[in-house]
Amino acid sequence: MAPNTEQLTRPAVRLRSLTRSFAGRTVLDGIDLDLPAGQFTALLGHSGSGKSTLLRAIAGLDHDVTGSGRLTAPGRVSVVFQDSRLLPWRRVLDNVLLGTDGKDAAAKGRSALAEVGLAGRERAWPNELSGGEAQRAALARSLVREPELLLADEPFGALDALTRIKMHNLLRELWERHRPSVLLVTHDVDEAIVLADRVLVLDQGRIGLDLTIDRPHPRSYRDPLLGEYRERLLAALGVTEDHA
Ligand SMILES: Nc1ncnc2c1ncn2[C@@H]1O[C@H](COP(=O)(O)OP(=O)(O)OP(=O)(O)O)[C@@H](O)[C@H]1O
Ligand SMILES: [Mg+2]
Repeated sequence: MAPNTEQLTRPAVRLRSLTRSFAGRTVLDGIDLDLPAGQFTALLGHSGSGKSTLLRAIAGLDHDVTGSGRLTAPGRVSVVFQDSRLLPWRRVLDNVLLGTDGKDAAAKGRSALAEVGLAGRERAWPNELSGGEAQRAALARSLVREPELLLADEPFGALDALTRIKMHNLLRELWERHRPSVLLVTHDVDEAIVLADRVLVLDQGRIGLDLTIDRPHPRSYRDPLLGEYRERLLAALGVTEDHA
């Protein structure tokens, strides 16, 4: 059972009045948000609602935000994007190890690759990997940093449906084992409710809905009890058709 918000006292991220505008247009409008340590949170919102902007602000990649944002472990943040961003001229293991050092770095890299099912592919070139394998290598690269906070921006968006389900299981397994705080950006309501224990909807620059998903894992898309969460999220996203 996932820990609830009350049990998780040390926030990994605390944002107060976070605001971001581009050329006078406000995209994030005074966001207050705590992400407790070890919580798996998903962030939904329409295209252009500011999900990536929020993630970049939390990652410390955006120096033009106003308000306050605090990370309890700013050095141990990993970011995974929709494309794997592997460097094509480096072999898989070297990509995973990029920017890390220490005498046991290589061993950690190998072990991270084994965790994502890529043992034996250490010397492969990125262009020899399938899309799903490349995303697994990207997850291994994030794991090797032992992140306290894992920020993922539509990491499975470019994958086929079957590979995506496998990646969901893998991400959840890795989370169970390492317990980082996760903020997973997705536009897929089902992905959010199957994976996350809390789902946020970003709407008009604010958190329009903050929903705790209180169902045991592993979850199934077909779980009828998830249907109610799905309905509420679709309503918050302004989708009115019956998708249940
Ligand atoms: N560097 C930038 N310069 C100007 N406008 C920007 C910049 N980055 C983002 N925006 C604008 O901010 C808004 C939010 O963009 P963002 O990329 O955060 O949306 P998103 O929710 O991640 O969308 P998607 O689901 O399509 O990825 C958009 O209208 C976008 O055009
Ligand atoms: Mg985006």
